[in-house]
Amino acid sequence: TWTTGNVIEEQVEAIREQVGTKRAICALSGGVDSAVAAALVQKAIGSQLTCVYVDHGLMRKGETAQVEKDFVAATGVQLRVVDAEKRFLTALEGVSDPEEKRKIIGREFIRVFEQAQAEIIAEAGASGEPVEFLVQGTLYPDVVESGGGTGTANIKSHHNVGGLPEDLEFQLIEPLRKLFKDEVRMVGQELGLPEEIVQRQPFPGPGLGIRIVGEVTKERLDLLREADAIAREELTAAGLDREIWQCPVVLLADVRSVGVQGDGRTYGHPIVLRPVSSEDAMTADWSRLPYDVLSKISTRITNEVRDVNRVVLDVTSKPPGTIEWE
Ligand code: XMP
Repeated sequence: TWTTGNVIEEQVEAIREQVGTKRAICALSGGVDSAVAAALVQKAIGSQLTCVYVDHGLMRKGETAQVEKDFVAATGVQLRVVDAEKRFLTALEGVSDPEEKRKIIGREFIRVFEQAQAEIIAEAGASGEPVEFLVQGTLYPDVVESGGGTGTANIKSHHNVGGLPEDLEFQLIEPLRKLFKDEVRMVGQELGLPEEIVQRQPFPGPGLGIRIVGEVTKERLDLLREADAIAREELTAAGLDREIWQCPVVLLADVRSVGVQGDGRTYGHPIVLRPVSSEDAMTADWSRLPYDVLSKISTRITNEVRDVNRVVLDVTSKPPGTIEWE
């Protein structure tokens, strides 16, 4: 019979057998899949695993700290955090085109990860146990999708922590290959991972970089992080986290509109709320959020976030709109 306990036991056995005394590395993204995969492998081989977290500076408020503190506390995993914010922001300077942004972020990510990987391999070399394994949080639907060839990849070049180097000399450990998302969450819970990580809604690999329409700058990221944190806080307070699939919050950095605040005229940017309901993100409907929740979010964002004087609601389903704006 299928129980999370059995799945864990079975995988721990299999991983131990596969890895032996060698070493493994895993890229953590802050998302559910890589977190649960890493926790499972950690349970199996302990300190033979090293995790790498690339902080590209495009994460939401509190997310990096959650990985650095809560995830490590819950699993005891060896974590290497690479602070690469400057590098990513420099690479993104002057770039507004969505596809170009995605390509740059994906490319830089691989470079930073490979560098960290080389360092870990060099250090492990001294200890004599080679790094031969790479952990990936591939789920069953990913396995099916890449075999079945759905069209999404042609619409946007998806960047995933999963989509790492092809010239790879690693063997893969993919302990979630037979699981669906809800099962992965159950396994994560059983492994004692923090609720905030286990119940996390989908968040794109390129992060807030593709939620700023226009050039990505540190200042704009900070604005968006504030607005996003407010929206998340209020949705959680209203008990809506399970009802909505995700709610991208988008900064229209290239748009300004006239407003009035206090006694003065303002000329600020709009923030877009994009709450959607969905089964698999292939199609989606816009969520009919309660007006009082929308009102609260709007009031707080315009009061608390500098340079934002308008909040608008995206009422487009997918298709024709994608979930993300870029
Ligand atoms: P779209 O915008 O294509 O998004 O309707 C569908 C789902 O995929 C997420 N998304 C991504 N996830 N890397 C990811 O890991 C990406 O590059 C990426 N782009 C979009 C999006 O948040 C939604 O859940």
